[in-house]
Amino acid sequence: MSRYAAFVLFLFVGLEFQLSHGTEVQVKGADKKLCLYANLTISFSVSYELAVGKNVTIKFPLPDNVTTDGSKCENTSSTLKLNFGAGHSWAVNFTSNGKKYQADSVMFSYNLSDSTIFPNSALNDTLSVTTKPQITDVGMDTCYSCKSTDEIQADLVNMTLWNVLIQAFVINGSRSENLTICSADVPVTTAPTTTHVTNSTSTAPPPTTTPTTTPTPTPTLPTPTTGQYSIKPDDNSTACLLANFGLRIGFKKGELYQEMNLEPNRTIASGSCGANSSELVLKSKDMIIMFTFTSDTKKFSLHALNFTAVGVPFSGTNNNLSLWEAEVNSSYMCNKEQNYTITSLLSLYTFNLQVQPFGVKKGLFSTAEDCQADAESFLVPIAVGVALLVLIFIVLLAYFIGRKRNMATGYESF
Ligand SMILES: *[C@@H]1O[C@H](CO)[C@@H](O)[C@H](O)[C@H]1NC(C)=O
Ligand SMILES: *[C@@H]1O[C@H](CO)[C@@H](O)[C@H](O)[C@H]1NC(C)=O
Ligand SMILES: *[C@@H]1O[C@H](CO)[C@@H](O)[C@H](O)[C@H]1NC(C)=O
Ligand SMILES: *[C@@H]1O[C@H](CO)[C@@H](O)[C@H](O)[C@H]1NC(C)=O
Ligand SMILES: *[C@@H]1O[C@H](CO)[C@@H](O)[C@H](O)[C@H]1NC(C)=O
Ligand SMILES: *[C@@H]1O[C@H](CO)[C@@H](O)[C@H](O)[C@H]1NC(C)=O
Ligand SMILES: *[C@@H]1O[C@H](CO)[C@@H](O)[C@H](O)[C@H]1NC(C)=O
Ligand SMILES: *[C@@H]1O[C@H](CO)[C@@H](O)[C@H](O)[C@H]1NC(C)=O
Ligand SMILES: *[C@@H]1O[C@H](CO)[C@@H](O)[C@H](O)[C@H]1NC(C)=O
Ligand SMILES: *[C@@H]1O[C@H](CO)[C@@H](O)[C@H](O)[C@H]1NC(C)=O
Repeated sequence: MSRYAAFVLFLFVGLEFQLSHGTEVQVKGADKKLCLYANLTISFSVSYELAVGKNVTIKFPLPDNVTTDGSKCENTSSTLKLNFGAGHSWAVNFTSNGKKYQADSVMFSYNLSDSTIFPNSALNDTLSVTTKPQITDVGMDTCYSCKSTDEIQADLVNMTLWNVLIQAFVINGSRSENLTICSADVPVTTAPTTTHVTNSTSTAPPPTTTPTTTPTPTPTLPTPTTGQYSIKPDDNSTACLLANFGLRIGFKKGELYQEMNLEPNRTIASGSCGANSSELVLKSKDMIIMFTFTSDTKKFSLHALNFTAVGVPFSGTNNNLSLWEAEVNSSYMCNKEQNYTITSLLSLYTFNLQVQPFGVKKGLFSTAEDCQADAESFLVPIAVGVALLVLIFIVLLAYFIGRKRNMATGYESF
């Protein structure tokens, strides 16, 4: 029953899809069953030469009205060919290894004598470009889903794809309800090759047309990898700022709380060292974080933090922090996981933290002031003192009780 409801919902969403933009096609095999399904939006940008000798770049969308002549499905390879207008076509070849399938090539052919699209073209040939799209590692019997835009560049042509839902190698004529979501749609920075196979039965959200409304639940992230970052005043000298840490950022945009890990592998560190202010800027494909450290000649601290999430329009700044405080010429260290509230919408989580923004000698960390040791060195004497007091109290109590009892009963009971 609920399966049926999910199916109806799916059909409805499919219809919705077609009514808005998006080109939907179903390729049938020799047995007249569905063998390849696609619903996608493409925008082409083509540069061509005008009769007068200049080059122009024009943009046009893949129309809704396409034919699929030339598409075919075989056991381990298949082709999706979308023909439109006066002799234009867009074709993708898929291959499978039994467990996964992928798109090997995409070929776009365009007929320059079609003056409705290419007015005043100097040439009247049909040209074609071939390139490799980024559709890889799609689980068999799953749909590849990518709402984010994917820019495919080839010489004189750029193709922008979005709201893509494709299933090649459809089994038994029915499109799978399971999705392989492209990494661009996953709002976290785990390993770059991660493909999350989610199951879109009644609990999972069905594909929607708007790329912005992705209610993907944030999966629990692995502990971020500890990165080692340093800043040198110039190419020949040793580091003047050192920072080692694993970093996770949590932020709230609208109702949606998201977390991302900074991937040291894909992070570029830059910055500067000053007498009383040093800066560390970390840039990855997902975020830009700027740490500003200040010192008052005796102590330093993290004074300001500016975070910008790339892609998601989000940024948060606090210019009035005093975190990671330690003596100048020493480093601040905190191995335990720490969380810091930067703004009401932005939190910072650190792992294996050690920073030294001033007075670095020979490119090495100086003695560390440990956040944990601090807490312990303060707590241990108190704990010992309290324990001693309790012990003394118990001894005294025992003594007085014993004495009272002895006085009342004498030694008769013996
Ligand atoms: C290219 O466009 C012209 C003009 O529309 C048309 O006559 C011709 O048949 C087209 N070429 C192909 C290969 O379809
Ligand atoms: C366009 O094609 C026609 C027929 O194929 C040919 O005669 C003509 O020279 C071509 N024009 C150009 C500009 O190449
Ligand atoms: C698709 O989802 C169903 C239901 O959860 C599951 O039984 C099936 O194994 C999944 N198929 C694939 C290929 O992941
Ligand atoms: C394709 O995209 C690149 C990078 O954005 C741009 O430099 C180039 O001009 C584009 N080419 C066309 C034909 O739009
Ligand atoms: C770095 O060292 C090279 C030679 O070792 C020298 O030519 C260059 O000028 C130095 N650069 C700076 C910024 O000191
Ligand atoms: C970082 O890069 C190294 C080698 O380049 C690789 O072995 C390692 O798996 C990468 N780590 C992550 C988290 O991507
Ligand atoms: C920074 O240090 C210099 C001297 O080292 C001092 O003159 C200046 O006032 C300091 N600036 C601030 C903002 O503390
Ligand atoms: C924070 O970073 C963003 C983007 O890098 C920048 O536009 C903004 O001015 C910065 N804010 C502060 C207070 O530095
Ligand atoms: C900065 O923080 C301190 C205490 O944390 C506070 O007293 C002060 O008002 C803050 N200044 C600004 C400009 O927010
Ligand atoms: C942040 O730390 C506080 C205690 O310092 C803890 O209660 C809270 O659960 C932590 N938040 C997260 C999301 O780890």
